[in-house]
Amino acid sequence: MVVLAASICTKGGKAVISRQFRDMPKTRIESLLASFPKLIPTNTQHTSVETAEVRYVYQPLEDLYILLITNKASNILQDIDTLHLFARVVSDMCRSADEREILKNAFELLGAFDEVVSMGYREQVNMMQVRSVLEMESHEEKIQEIIARNKEAEAKEELKRRAKQLEMQRREQQRRTAGSGGGSSYLGGVSGYSPIPQRFDTPDIVTPVTRINTSPPTRGPAFKGTGMKLGTKKTKQAELLDALGGDVLASSSVGELSIPSTPALESPIQKPEGRGSLPEIETESVHIAIKEQISLSLLRDGGVQSMELKGDMNLHISDASLAHLRITLLPSTDFGGNSLQFKQHPNVAKFTPGQERVVALKDPTRAFPVGQSLAVLKWRYAGTDESNVPLSINCWPSPSNDGTCEVSIEYELENENVSLYDVVISIPLPTGSYPTVSTHSGEWSLDPSSHSLAWSIPLVTALDDTRSGSLIFTVGGDDAGAFFPVEVTFNGRGSLAGIGVSTVRKIGGGDDPVFSVDTVVTTEDYLVV
Ligand SMILES: *[C@@H]1O[C@H](CO)[C@@H](O)[C@H](O)[C@H]1NC(C)=O
Repeated sequence: MVVLAASICTKGGKAVISRQFRDMPKTRIESLLASFPKLIPTNTQHTSVETAEVRYVYQPLEDLYILLITNKASNILQDIDTLHLFARVVSDMCRSADEREILKNAFELLGAFDEVVSMGYREQVNMMQVRSVLEMESHEEKIQEIIARNKEAEAKEELKRRAKQLEMQRREQQRRTAGSGGGSSYLGGVSGYSPIPQRFDTPDIVTPVTRINTSPPTRGPAFKGTGMKLGTKKTKQAELLDALGGDVLASSSVGELSIPSTPALESPIQKPEGRGSLPEIETESVHIAIKEQISLSLLRDGGVQSMELKGDMNLHISDASLAHLRITLLPSTDFGGNSLQFKQHPNVAKFTPGQERVVALKDPTRAFPVGQSLAVLKWRYAGTDESNVPLSINCWPSPSNDGTCEVSIEYELENENVSLYDVVISIPLPTGSYPTVSTHSGEWSLDPSSHSLAWSIPLVTALDDTRSGSLIFTVGGDDAGAFFPVEVTFNGRGSLAGIGVSTVRKIGGGDDPVFSVDTVVTTEDYLVV
């Protein structure tokens, strides 16, 4: 059974797009398509028609036909099934099945056709798999765009820098000319800007799709190679290498592309520094910044290998009339038990055991410094008590006996007093394998630099159904160990140790000052090993 071509043509037999899976000249496919409408018997429900040489399996697509041209030994039932899948791909990718819309999406459509049929043979794929491969590719396209944009920005910077340099040279020369007493006007040896050496080549635009593409796809079976498909894998890879300045080595494993962290690639997709998407806090005359950082190693089979939480509280007073104050903290929570330890600034009084926790100067006649940030309190927890883990992760690879693994991964927010922004859970993938994601909350993408699946959830809170989530994918490879260490990053609002401000009082009476509190928790290392 061989599918010779998959095409979409007008009712008059003019090709809109066509993908040939066997070598055949353009004129041949054009004449096959041109004669096809004349063969269709009127008023029949048939979906196939034969000539002496080929069989057409077809279905109408609004004002067009979508059809497979096969040889006559081909299995017609399977071909009908393949045709239905093609038709679903079209309706999935195009808003309507008219010629313009089809042409607009021609490149993606032909790419999808290649996922379904390879060298004339049907691949064992379903709609979902086609979709996930294409999603993945569009992610890679995005990375391409980002790289291109960055190069442009860098080239512009370079241009500016050179312009500045030339301007300086010009002034210098002018000064010298003037200084030499000649008084002659500047004759401008350096007028204008000489062409800038083009350090960055603009990447080639992806080869435009011709209506009739007669070259048979040269790729192997779907889902086994690299993520860069659509028949342009080599050029894209080469482009990417070029884009990165040529100082990149593709790693030895075939099809695997290693991208080092160059500034160009890093800046737009790196994890947000500092606070990421955390909402800004408007600061008042008394501002208290509470920062925590967590390092955690969870064991893949459960339990905590190590956990450390470090926190500090910084006080910033901008109005001298408010500098005599005491801060009462919120009551202790269950976090950390006796392992949560506090340390005060040498001028700050220690907590009185058994009483509410107060931050105040030892000498009540003194004032806190004004116009500068002072670390008044620090805390630290180190331990392995699982009940202190803020976000639990369960990553569960199940190797099946066909050389693939199904990986199911779940998270759950365990500390209801924090909201986690920009949560990214990265799962390493076996070298050279690409995942087929079957279900997921949040969003997923591939991180080509680490060859991992990056699962991102913009906000995890205890208040709604983002509290927990799951993602399931299958991928080639049967080593369950390949999916570790799973790495988690987030920017959290709130304090894991439950440190917060209850009241701020002026010492010596007067109205309580208005104060603002910014509480941020970030990850240093958050791993499942
Ligand atoms: C969350 O806050 C409440 C009230 O302050 C406290 O009782 C509880 O222990 C905290 N939960 C955790 C996990 O720290």
